[in-house]
Amino acid sequence: MEDKLLNVNDLSVGFESDDGMFMAVRDMGFAVRKGETVCIVGESGCGKSVTSLAIMRLLAEPPAHVSGEVLFEGKDLLKLPMDEMRGIRGNQIAMIFQEPMTSLNPVFTCGFQISEALIAHQGMTKAQARERSIELMRMVGIPEPEKRFDAYPHELSGGMRQRVMISMALACEPKLLIDDEPTTALDVTIQAQIMELLRDLKRRLGMALILITHDMGIVAQMAEWVIVMYAGEEVERADVRTIFSNPLHPYTEGLLESIPRLDSDTNKELPVIEGTVPGMYDMPKGCKFAPRCKRCMERCLNEAPPLVTLDDGHAVRCFLASEGREDSDA
Ligand SMILES: Nc1ncnc2c1ncn2[C@@H]1O[C@H](COP(=O)(O)OP(=O)(O)OP(=O)(O)O)[C@@H](O)[C@H]1O
Ligand SMILES: [Mg+2]
Repeated sequence: MEDKLLNVNDLSVGFESDDGMFMAVRDMGFAVRKGETVCIVGESGCGKSVTSLAIMRLLAEPPAHVSGEVLFEGKDLLKLPMDEMRGIRGNQIAMIFQEPMTSLNPVFTCGFQISEALIAHQGMTKAQARERSIELMRMVGIPEPEKRFDAYPHELSGGMRQRVMISMALACEPKLLIDDEPTTALDVTIQAQIMELLRDLKRRLGMALILITHDMGIVAQMAEWVIVMYAGEEVERADVRTIFSNPLHPYTEGLLESIPRLDSDTNKELPVIEGTVPGMYDMPKGCKFAPRCKRCMERCLNEAPPLVTLDDGHAVRCFLASEGREDSDA
C-alpha cells in the first residue's frame, strides 16, 4: 500500500426504486497517493457525486446500496462504525459540496460554522477557534475576515460562500480533500482564484485532492492522475499527460475536443459529443458508449468491454484499445 492514502476497490452504488435497482456506480477502482491530485471527469449524471458521497459514507442506506472497499490508510471506511466515521469526516477527510448551501447552515454565522469544526475536532477554546477561523478566512482570500466572521451565509456572494466552505473544509487540515465541482457556478475569474488557492494549499499542507469536474481545462491545470467516467463506470484512467497526449477511449477524445481553444476561430461552434448519457431504462447491453461512439463496431453492441490495463497504469474500457491484450483487470 506504500504511499497510497486512499484505495477504492470495486466500489458500486445502486439505488432502490419501484422498478428495481438502478446501478449509479459500478466497480470503481482507483488510488490516491499522499499529496496527489486525482481528477474525476465525465458529464452530468455519470456518477461523480455518488462516488464521492459513497467514499464519505454520506448516502442513506437504503435507498442506496454501497459495496466494495474504501481503504483510507488501510482502514475500510465502509466497515467503520458511524461514530468512528464521523471522527474521520471533516477531520482527516473533508468534502466541499457541489452546492454551497447544502453544507452551510443559513441560521448560523459563517464564523460560527468554521469555529464549530475547530472546537469539535481539535478541542480549541472559543477564543482560539475564533482567531484560527479568521486566519483561515484570510488564507482563502476573504477580505476583511474579522467583519465577515459575523456574516450569515445569505449576506455573502456565491464566491465568498464557496470560500467559507473551503475554509471550513480546511479547518482541520485534512489529509484528503474531496472537491465536488465547487466552482462550476462561479465566474471564471473567481474559479481561477480558487484553483490557485487549492494548489497553494496542497503545496503548503501536503494535502491530497480528489477534484470532480467536467471541465478539461481545470483537469489540465490541476491533475496528476485522471479518471474518466461514463454512465457509472470508469472508461479510462491515466496520468494527466497521457490523457491529453494519448487518449484511447472515444469518449475521452470527445471530451478533449470540447475544450474551447484560444487559438481557434471564436465564431465556430464548439464540438459536442452527440447524444446523451443512457438513462436507467435504456442502458445498452454492450458498451454503454456504443450508441454515441463514432467508431462503434458490431461487437460493441452486444458485448461490454472490460477495463484493461495497458502501460503505466493507463487503463481503458474499449475493444479498440484493448484488442489483443490479456491483462484485463475487470
Ligand atoms: N439519492 C439518489 N437516489 C436515486 N438516484 C440517485 C440519487 N443520487 C443520484 N442518483 C442518480 O445517480 C446517477 C449519478 O448521479 P451523480 O449525482 O453522481 O452524477 P454527477 O456525475 O455528479 O452529475 P453532475 O455533473 O450533474 O453533478 C444519476 O442518474 C442520478 O440521477
Ligand atoms: Mg455531481
